[in-house]
Amino acid sequence: MLVRLLYASRAQQPITGELLESLMTTARKSNASHGITGVLCHTDRVFMQLLEGSRDDVSSLYHRIAADSRHSQVTLLQYVETTERHFFNWSMGQVNLERVNPSLLLKYAPRAELDPFSMSGSSAMKLLDELIATAAVVGRCS
Ligand SMILES: Cc1cc2nc3c(=O)[nH]c(=O)nc-3n(C[C@H](O)[C@H](O)[C@H](O)COP(=O)(O)O)c2cc1C
Repeated sequence: MLVRLLYASRAQQPITGELLESLMTTARKSNASHGITGVLCHTDRVFMQLLEGSRDDVSSLYHRIAADSRHSQVTLLQYVETTERHFFNWSMGQVNLERVNPSLLLKYAPRAELDPFSMSGSSAMKLLDELIATAAVVGRCS
């Protein structure tokens, strides 16, 4: 049985290329071996991450991530059982939302900037689906 979990958090430090690379290297290695797929979106200070996989694997990864001191205010936006993955091509895709067309953000959010703390889980999910459709997600399953 598959589940999808979406959360938002605030980085402890401004998000640098070095931090992202370290997170993505861990994520891609470990997620591929646990059948986890998803996407990590970020601005310079905020993360929003979607995790898909078995309930056990997603749940234990979420608890590990929530305990990570590199971010705080980890906030659950959506948790659903699902029949299919949206990000089956990505062990962990990546999107820099500072580079996304602002009108796309405005379609789903109160302002043309990523503030997942002010978005509904379903708007955030629709935004993620649209990011796939516009090829904004980088990275692939390894
Ligand atoms: C924003 C963020 C996203 C992360 N995403 C993942 C992920 O998708 N997969 C993963 O294995 N670790 C991810 N991590 C790292 C985990 O928090 C943790 O450091 C890693 O899984 C190793 O855990 P362990 O030391 O308990 O084995 C993420 C950390 C942060 C801060």
